[in-house]
Amino acid sequence: MKVANPLKTFAKEKVINYYEKAGLDYEEWDKDFNMHFGYFKWGINPFNLSAMLNQMNEEVFLRLKLSNYSNPTVLDLGCGLAATSRYMAKKNEKALLYGITITPWQIEFGTQLNKKAELHNRISIIKSDFANTPFANDSADSAFAIESSCYAKGDDKKDLIKETYRVLKPGGRFVLTDGFRKHNNPLPKWLDKIYRKNLEGWALNDLGEINLFIKAMEDVGFKNIKVEDISWKVAPSFMHIPRTVFKFFWKRFLKKEKTTLSKERRDNALGPLWGMLLGLSRKHFSYYIISAEK
Ligand SMILES: C[S@@+](CC[C@H](N)C(=O)[O-])C[C@H]1O[C@@H](n2cnc3c(N)ncnc32)[C@H](O)[C@@H]1O
Repeated sequence: MKVANPLKTFAKEKVINYYEKAGLDYEEWDKDFNMHFGYFKWGINPFNLSAMLNQMNEEVFLRLKLSNYSNPTVLDLGCGLAATSRYMAKKNEKALLYGITITPWQIEFGTQLNKKAELHNRISIIKSDFANTPFANDSADSAFAIESSCYAKGDDKKDLIKETYRVLKPGGRFVLTDGFRKHNNPLPKWLDKIYRKNLEGWALNDLGEINLFIKAMEDVGFKNIKVEDISWKVAPSFMHIPRTVFKFFWKRFLKKEKTTLSKERRDNALGPLWGMLLGLSRKHFSYYIISAEK
Protein backbone atom coordinates (compact mmCIF):
# COMPACT_ATOMS: atom_id res chain seq x y z
CA MET A 1 0.00 0.00 0.00
CA LYS A 2 1.32 3.44 -0.90
CA VAL A 3 1.41 5.74 2.12
CA ALA A 4 1.33 9.51 1.55
CA ASN A 5 4.41 11.36 2.68
CA PRO A 6 3.13 13.26 5.75
CA LEU A 7 5.63 16.10 5.25
CA LYS A 8 4.53 16.62 1.66
CA THR A 9 0.86 16.58 2.64
CA PHE A 10 1.51 19.06 5.41
CA ALA A 11 3.30 21.46 3.07
CA LYS A 12 0.38 21.41 0.61
CA GLU A 13 -2.19 21.80 3.35
CA LYS A 14 -0.29 24.74 4.73
CA VAL A 15 -0.48 26.44 1.32
CA ILE A 16 -4.18 25.69 0.87
CA ASN A 17 -5.02 26.85 4.38
CA TYR A 18 -3.09 30.08 3.83
CA TYR A 19 -4.79 30.90 0.52
CA GLU A 20 -8.23 29.91 1.83
CA LYS A 21 -7.89 32.26 4.80
CA ALA A 22 -5.92 35.17 3.38
CA GLY A 23 -6.94 34.97 -0.29
CA LEU A 24 -9.58 37.67 -0.30
CA ASP A 25 -7.17 40.12 1.35
CA TYR A 26 -5.27 40.30 -1.96
CA GLU A 27 -8.02 42.72 -3.02
CA GLU A 28 -6.15 45.30 -0.95
CA TRP A 29 -3.20 44.84 -3.35
CA ASP A 30 -5.25 44.82 -6.54
CA LYS A 31 -8.97 44.99 -7.19
CA ASP A 32 -8.51 42.62 -10.18
CA PHE A 33 -6.71 40.11 -7.93
CA ASN A 34 -3.33 40.08 -9.65
CA MET A 35 -1.42 38.27 -6.91
CA HIS A 36 2.08 39.19 -8.02
CA PHE A 37 4.51 42.10 -8.23
CA GLY A 38 4.48 44.68 -10.98
CA TYR A 39 6.84 45.51 -13.83
CA PHE A 40 7.94 49.09 -14.33
CA LYS A 41 8.93 50.47 -17.69
CA TRP A 42 9.35 54.04 -18.89
CA GLY A 43 6.00 55.63 -19.64
CA ILE A 44 4.20 53.92 -16.75
CA ASN A 45 3.39 56.05 -13.74
CA PRO A 46 5.18 54.29 -10.82
CA PHE A 47 2.35 55.41 -8.52
CA ASN A 48 -0.07 53.38 -10.64
CA LEU A 49 0.32 49.89 -9.14
CA SER A 50 -2.42 48.37 -11.26
CA ALA A 51 -0.66 49.47 -14.48
CA MET A 52 2.59 47.83 -13.30
CA LEU A 53 0.81 44.59 -12.32
CA ASN A 54 -0.73 44.39 -15.77
CA GLN A 55 2.60 45.21 -17.37
CA MET A 56 3.97 42.06 -15.68
CA ASN A 57 1.14 40.13 -17.35
CA GLU A 58 2.08 41.80 -20.63
CA GLU A 59 5.78 40.91 -20.29
CA VAL A 60 4.87 37.25 -19.79
CA PHE A 61 2.33 37.41 -22.61
CA LEU A 62 4.92 38.81 -25.05
CA ARG A 63 7.46 36.12 -24.19
CA LEU A 64 4.90 33.34 -24.73
CA LYS A 65 4.65 34.45 -28.38
CA LEU A 66 1.04 33.30 -28.62
CA SER A 67 0.63 34.95 -32.01
CA ASN A 68 2.65 32.02 -33.45
CA TYR A 69 -0.39 29.77 -32.89
CA SER A 70 -3.88 29.89 -34.39
CA ASN A 71 -5.76 28.58 -31.30
CA PRO A 72 -3.22 28.39 -28.50
CA THR A 73 -3.80 26.21 -25.45
CA VAL A 74 -2.16 27.92 -22.50
CA LEU A 75 -1.59 26.65 -18.95
CA ASP A 76 -1.53 29.09 -16.04
CA LEU A 77 0.40 27.08 -13.45
CA GLY A 78 -0.49 28.24 -9.93
CA CYS A 79 -3.12 30.60 -11.25
CA GLY A 80 -4.41 32.25 -8.07
CA LEU A 81 -7.68 33.90 -9.07
CA ALA A 82 -6.65 33.71 -12.75
CA ALA A 83 -6.16 37.46 -13.23
CA THR A 84 -3.33 36.81 -15.70
CA SER A 85 -5.45 34.29 -17.63
CA ARG A 86 -8.17 36.93 -17.98
CA TYR A 87 -5.57 39.43 -19.17
CA MET A 88 -4.28 36.96 -21.78
CA ALA A 89 -7.77 35.86 -22.89
CA LYS A 90 -8.56 39.52 -23.66
CA LYS A 91 -5.27 40.01 -25.52
CA ASN A 92 -5.62 36.86 -27.63
CA GLU A 93 -9.24 36.10 -28.47
CA LYS A 94 -8.41 32.64 -29.81
CA ALA A 95 -6.58 31.42 -26.72
CA LEU A 96 -7.96 28.64 -24.50
CA LEU A 97 -6.61 28.89 -20.99
CA TYR A 98 -6.44 26.43 -18.10
CA GLY A 99 -5.74 27.80 -14.64
CA ILE A 100 -4.27 25.26 -12.23
CA THR A 101 -4.35 25.64 -8.48
CA ILE A 102 -4.50 23.44 -5.41
CA THR A 103 -6.73 25.90 -3.54
CA PRO A 104 -10.46 25.06 -3.86
CA TRP A 105 -11.62 28.55 -2.89
CA GLN A 106 -9.65 30.03 -5.79
CA ILE A 107 -11.47 27.76 -8.23
CA GLU A 108 -14.85 28.91 -6.94
CA PHE A 109 -14.11 32.62 -6.74
CA GLY A 110 -11.84 32.70 -9.80
CA THR A 111 -14.59 31.06 -11.87
CA GLN A 112 -17.05 33.73 -10.68
CA LEU A 113 -14.58 36.42 -11.77
CA ASN A 114 -14.19 34.70 -15.16
CA LYS A 115 -17.99 34.65 -15.57
CA LYS A 116 -18.25 38.32 -14.62
CA ALA A 117 -15.67 39.10 -17.30
CA GLU A 118 -17.59 36.82 -19.74
CA LEU A 119 -14.46 34.77 -20.28
CA HIS A 120 -15.59 31.54 -18.61
CA ASN A 121 -16.00 29.82 -21.98
CA ARG A 122 -12.29 30.21 -22.63
CA ILE A 123 -10.80 29.96 -19.14
CA SER A 124 -11.28 26.87 -16.96
CA ILE A 125 -9.80 26.65 -13.51
CA ILE A 126 -9.02 23.15 -12.36
CA LYS A 127 -7.86 21.69 -9.07
CA SER A 128 -4.53 20.03 -9.55
CA ASP A 129 -0.97 20.00 -8.33
CA PHE A 130 1.10 21.70 -11.01
CA ALA A 131 3.69 18.96 -10.57
CA ASN A 132 1.16 16.25 -11.44
CA THR A 133 -1.50 17.51 -13.83
CA PRO A 134 -4.19 15.58 -15.73
CA PHE A 135 -2.99 16.88 -19.12
CA ALA A 136 -1.74 14.48 -21.78
CA ASN A 137 1.86 14.45 -23.02
CA ASP A 138 2.59 17.11 -25.67
CA SER A 139 -0.83 18.73 -25.30
CA ALA A 140 -0.25 22.42 -24.46
CA ASP A 141 1.16 25.13 -26.72
CA SER A 142 2.54 27.13 -23.83
CA ALA A 143 2.62 27.45 -20.07
CA PHE A 144 3.44 30.16 -17.58
CA ALA A 145 3.93 30.38 -13.83
CA ILE A 146 3.82 33.77 -12.15
CA GLU A 147 5.14 33.72 -8.58
CA SER A 148 4.01 30.16 -8.07
CA SER A 149 7.13 28.12 -8.92
CA CYS A 150 8.38 29.10 -5.46
CA TYR A 151 5.79 26.64 -4.05
CA ALA A 152 7.27 23.70 -5.97
CA LYS A 153 9.47 21.23 -4.13
CA GLY A 154 13.20 21.58 -3.51
CA ASP A 155 15.94 24.03 -4.46
CA ASP A 156 15.67 23.23 -8.16
CA LYS A 157 11.85 22.85 -8.39
CA LYS A 158 12.49 19.95 -10.74
CA ASP A 159 9.05 18.31 -10.27
CA LEU A 160 7.33 21.36 -11.70
CA ILE A 161 9.87 21.75 -14.51
CA LYS A 162 9.57 18.06 -15.50
CA GLU A 163 5.77 18.13 -15.53
CA THR A 164 5.67 21.33 -17.58
CA TYR A 165 8.08 19.81 -20.10
CA ARG A 166 5.93 16.67 -20.32
CA VAL A 167 2.69 18.48 -21.16
CA LEU A 168 4.15 21.03 -23.59
CA LYS A 169 4.13 20.31 -27.31
CA PRO A 170 7.57 20.28 -28.97
CA GLY A 171 8.51 23.92 -29.50
CA GLY A 172 6.04 25.00 -26.76
CA ARG A 173 7.12 27.92 -24.63
CA PHE A 174 7.39 28.15 -20.84
CA VAL A 175 7.68 31.56 -19.14
CA LEU A 176 7.90 32.14 -15.42
CA THR A 177 8.59 34.98 -13.05
CA ASP A 178 9.67 34.63 -9.43
CA GLY A 179 12.07 35.56 -6.68
CA PHE A 180 15.08 33.24 -6.28
CA ARG A 181 18.09 32.79 -4.04
CA LYS A 182 21.32 33.51 -5.91
CA HIS A 183 23.38 30.88 -4.08
CA ASN A 184 23.04 28.10 -1.53
CA ASN A 185 25.50 29.42 1.06
CA PRO A 186 24.30 30.29 4.56
CA LEU A 187 22.83 33.78 4.84
CA PRO A 188 23.96 36.30 7.44
CA LYS A 189 22.00 35.56 10.63
CA TRP A 190 19.89 38.74 10.56
CA LEU A 191 18.98 38.16 6.91
CA ASP A 192 18.19 34.50 7.49
CA LYS A 193 15.70 35.57 10.18
CA ILE A 194 13.97 37.92 7.76
CA TYR A 195 14.01 35.24 5.08
CA ARG A 196 12.35 32.71 7.43
CA LYS A 197 9.69 35.31 8.35
CA ASN A 198 9.00 35.92 4.69
CA LEU A 199 8.68 32.18 3.98
CA GLU A 200 6.31 31.78 6.91
CA GLY A 201 4.26 34.79 5.84
CA TRP A 202 3.58 33.29 2.42
CA ALA A 203 3.40 29.61 3.51
CA LEU A 204 6.54 28.79 1.52
CA ASN A 205 9.10 26.08 2.22
CA ASP A 206 11.99 27.62 0.32
CA LEU A 207 12.61 29.84 -2.68
CA GLY A 208 14.34 28.20 -5.62
CA GLU A 209 18.09 28.62 -6.15
CA ILE A 210 18.56 30.14 -9.59
CA ASN A 211 21.60 28.11 -10.74
CA LEU A 212 20.05 24.79 -9.73
CA PHE A 213 16.75 25.82 -11.30
CA ILE A 214 18.35 26.60 -14.66
CA LYS A 215 20.41 23.40 -14.51
CA ALA A 216 17.19 21.43 -13.88
CA MET A 217 15.59 23.11 -16.91
CA GLU A 218 18.57 22.11 -19.06
CA ASP A 219 18.64 18.56 -17.68
CA VAL A 220 14.95 18.08 -18.39
CA GLY A 221 15.50 19.21 -21.99
CA PHE A 222 14.41 22.85 -22.22
CA LYS A 223 16.38 24.86 -24.77
CA ASN A 224 16.87 28.53 -25.64
CA ILE A 225 16.65 29.36 -21.94
CA LYS A 226 16.74 33.09 -21.36
CA VAL A 227 17.19 34.42 -17.83
CA GLU A 228 16.49 38.10 -17.23
CA ASP A 229 17.16 39.69 -13.86
CA ILE A 230 14.28 42.16 -13.50
CA SER A 231 14.78 43.04 -9.83
CA TRP A 232 14.98 46.76 -10.57
CA LYS A 233 11.90 46.64 -12.80
CA VAL A 234 9.94 45.05 -9.97
CA ALA A 235 11.30 47.40 -7.28
CA PRO A 236 8.81 50.28 -7.89
CA SER A 237 5.91 47.93 -7.15
CA PHE A 238 7.65 46.90 -3.89
CA MET A 239 7.34 50.53 -2.87
CA HIS A 240 3.55 50.08 -2.70
CA ILE A 241 3.90 47.47 0.05
CA PRO A 242 4.04 49.77 3.12
CA ARG A 243 0.97 51.75 1.98
CA THR A 244 -0.99 48.54 1.27
CA VAL A 245 -0.03 47.01 4.63
CA PHE A 246 -0.96 50.21 6.47
CA LYS A 247 -4.31 50.44 4.64
CA PHE A 248 -5.03 46.79 5.42
CA PHE A 249 -4.46 47.15 9.18
CA TRP A 250 -6.20 50.53 9.34
CA LYS A 251 -9.36 49.11 7.74
CA ARG A 252 -9.29 46.09 10.10
CA PHE A 253 -8.85 48.50 13.03
CA LEU A 254 -11.84 50.60 11.94
CA LYS A 255 -13.90 47.44 11.57
CA LYS A 256 -12.68 46.36 15.04
CA GLU A 257 -11.44 43.10 13.48
CA LYS A 258 -8.18 43.33 15.40
CA THR A 259 -8.87 40.52 17.84
CA THR A 260 -10.28 38.08 15.30
CA LEU A 261 -7.66 38.48 12.57
CA SER A 262 -6.24 34.99 11.90
CA LYS A 263 -2.51 34.24 11.90
CA GLU A 264 -2.65 33.56 8.14
CA ARG A 265 -4.17 36.98 7.43
CA ARG A 266 -1.70 38.76 9.70
CA ASP A 267 1.26 36.88 8.18
CA ASN A 268 -0.01 37.56 4.67
CA ALA A 269 -0.26 41.27 5.40
CA LEU A 270 3.22 41.44 6.93
CA GLY A 271 4.90 38.94 4.56
CA PRO A 272 5.45 41.51 1.79
CA LEU A 273 7.27 43.82 4.22
CA TRP A 274 9.84 41.08 4.83
CA GLY A 275 9.89 40.38 1.10
CA MET A 276 10.71 44.02 0.47
CA LEU A 277 13.77 43.77 2.75
CA LEU A 278 14.91 40.61 0.97
CA GLY A 279 14.53 42.44 -2.33
CA LEU A 280 17.11 44.94 -1.13
CA SER A 281 19.67 42.17 -0.43
CA ARG A 282 20.84 42.00 -4.02
CA LYS A 283 23.85 39.83 -3.22
CA HIS A 284 21.60 37.01 -2.07
CA PHE A 285 18.25 37.37 -3.83
CA SER A 286 16.97 38.41 -7.25
CA TYR A 287 13.75 38.46 -9.17
CA TYR A 288 13.82 36.88 -12.64
CA ILE A 289 11.75 36.34 -15.71
CA ILE A 290 12.77 33.10 -17.38
CA SER A 291 11.68 31.92 -20.83
CA ALA A 292 12.42 28.62 -22.50
CA GLU A 293 11.29 26.28 -25.25
CA LYS A 294 10.65 22.54 -25.34
C1 LIG B 1 1.27 34.04 -5.21
S1 LIG B 1 -0.02 33.10 -5.93
C2 LIG B 1 0.19 33.63 -7.61
C3 LIG B 1 -1.10 33.57 -8.36
C4 LIG B 1 -1.09 34.03 -9.80
N1 LIG B 1 -0.07 33.37 -10.59
C5 LIG B 1 -0.96 35.52 -9.90
O1 LIG B 1 0.15 35.99 -10.24
O2 LIG B 1 -1.94 36.23 -9.68
C6 LIG B 1 0.56 31.42 -5.92
C7 LIG B 1 -0.43 30.41 -6.45
O3 LIG B 1 0.20 29.13 -6.55
C8 LIG B 1 -0.74 28.13 -6.20
N2 LIG B 1 -0.04 26.89 -5.83
C9 LIG B 1 0.82 26.69 -4.81
N3 LIG B 1 1.26 25.42 -4.82
C10 LIG B 1 0.68 24.82 -5.88
C11 LIG B 1 0.74 23.49 -6.41
N4 LIG B 1 1.51 22.54 -5.86
N5 LIG B 1 0.01 23.21 -7.50
C12 LIG B 1 -0.78 24.15 -8.08
N6 LIG B 1 -0.88 25.42 -7.62
C13 LIG B 1 -0.16 25.75 -6.53
C14 LIG B 1 -1.53 28.75 -5.06
O4 LIG B 1 -2.76 28.08 -4.86
C15 LIG B 1 -1.69 30.18 -5.63
O5 LIG B 1 -2.79 30.17 -6.48
